[in-house]
Amino acid sequence: MKALVWEGANELAVRQVPDPQIRNEQDAIVRVRRTVTCGSDLHLLGGYVPFMERGDVLGHEFLGDIVEVGPQVRNHKVGDRVVVCSFISCGKCWYCQQQQFSLCDNGNTNPMITENVWGSAPGGCYGYSHALGGFAGSHAEYIRVPYADQGAFTVPDAVSDERALFASDSAPTGWMGADLAGVKPGDVVAVWGAGAVGQMAARASVLLGADRVIVIDRLDNRLEMAQTHLGVETLNYEQQDIGAELLERSGGRGPDVCIEAVGMESHSGGPQLWYDQIKQQLRIESDRPVAAREAIYNCRKGGSVFVLGVFAGMVDKFPLGALMNKGLTLRGAQQHGQRYIPMLLERMARGELVTEHLATHTMPLDEAPRGYEMFKQKIDGCVRAVFQPTS
Ligand SMILES: NC(=O)c1ccc[n+]([C@@H]2O[C@H](COP(=O)([O-])OP(=O)(O)OC[C@H]3O[C@@H](n4cnc5c(N)ncnc54)[C@H](O)[C@@H]3O)[C@@H](O)[C@H]2O)c1
Ligand SMILES: [Zn+2]
Ligand SMILES: [Zn+2]
Repeated sequence: MKALVWEGANELAVRQVPDPQIRNEQDAIVRVRRTVTCGSDLHLLGGYVPFMERGDVLGHEFLGDIVEVGPQVRNHKVGDRVVVCSFISCGKCWYCQQQQFSLCDNGNTNPMITENVWGSAPGGCYGYSHALGGFAGSHAEYIRVPYADQGAFTVPDAVSDERALFASDSAPTGWMGADLAGVKPGDVVAVWGAGAVGQMAARASVLLGADRVIVIDRLDNRLEMAQTHLGVETLNYEQQDIGAELLERSGGRGPDVCIEAVGMESHSGGPQLWYDQIKQQLRIESDRPVAAREAIYNCRKGGSVFVLGVFAGMVDKFPLGALMNKGLTLRGAQQHGQRYIPMLLERMARGELVTEHLATHTMPLDEAPRGYEMFKQKIDGCVRAVFQPTS
């Protein structure tokens, strides 16, 4: 079959790879209808995650049709149209029982790497390096879905492919951030990053009853999109004073909840960027936490900060003093999608949650290297490039 493979830092190619096969009784094989780029992939492409191997198939957010099931798959049959959670979890271990699905003890078949780096291993993820299990990704005609009863969700007829695709990752990630950060009616919420994840966190905050939701970025097309499709306020950090504006819009206290949806390659207008970039390139610090610092600094006393952006290792100039003295709660997580996807599909069917505007560019899988270039460089207002391996 055809797939998009990683050939080295910033080198991608579409080529033939072996077809996936059922390996365990709970596996299913899915014929991919749509698969989409994610900000997380940029960290892999740039070579920031040193556990990719030449020939690895990329992609972790996808939707398709089940074409084969293992003998222990109970909830799905051949022909089901399913959206699949990007994180792989067994549904049975202690963490899955606590609904902390991305922490699954069995999803990552290669736990040694992350145990060494982080103390213990999170679950597995499709197409996301050998540190997260080395699973083949979804930018391919077919994909093996382990624990198919846990990870695959039948899409209601009322929800289009274009909309349901985002129930794989961006929508549950955003919802989890707002949910676990404790967004409640009346809150003022600030979200750093107007990519698909930030937009979904903002929309979740609105649906959870937040009074004001403010999305921060520097890309005007993304900020306009957030205003039009999500019903939120925006701030451009290159043109406005973020600290002063957030105080003004929160009765002088600062936002109750601050959600970071940027990650380790965050940008900054000031000298901070040079400082972090040089340290990152010299491998003295692995990640650039500009937006995380700002979220902590601007959050109201006693407020809650949630880190959705992906970080790999060590950061520098982390404002631990602000965190401690302001009595903040800081959390982060990879998405626990299995907990939210059925609810999100229902909201999508009712039209409460729209996502198709995120798919700014759709193309055949053969054009995926061009799609990644557009997504990475944000050419032509690209928010997400969607690939169609099969029609
Ligand atoms: N926790 C999870 O399970 C999970 C799931 C999916 C993605 N992610 C992560 O979420 C992050 C966002 O993903 P995405 O797909 O939306 O990425 P994206 O690259 O499309 O969007 C990131 C946005 O952040 C903006 N940005 C950069 N620096 C900023 C700053 N200092 N302040 C405000 N905005 C800034 C960029 O302009 C861009 O619009 C990534 O780090 C990704 O890896 C996490
Ligand atoms: Zn993703
Ligand atoms: Zn588990």
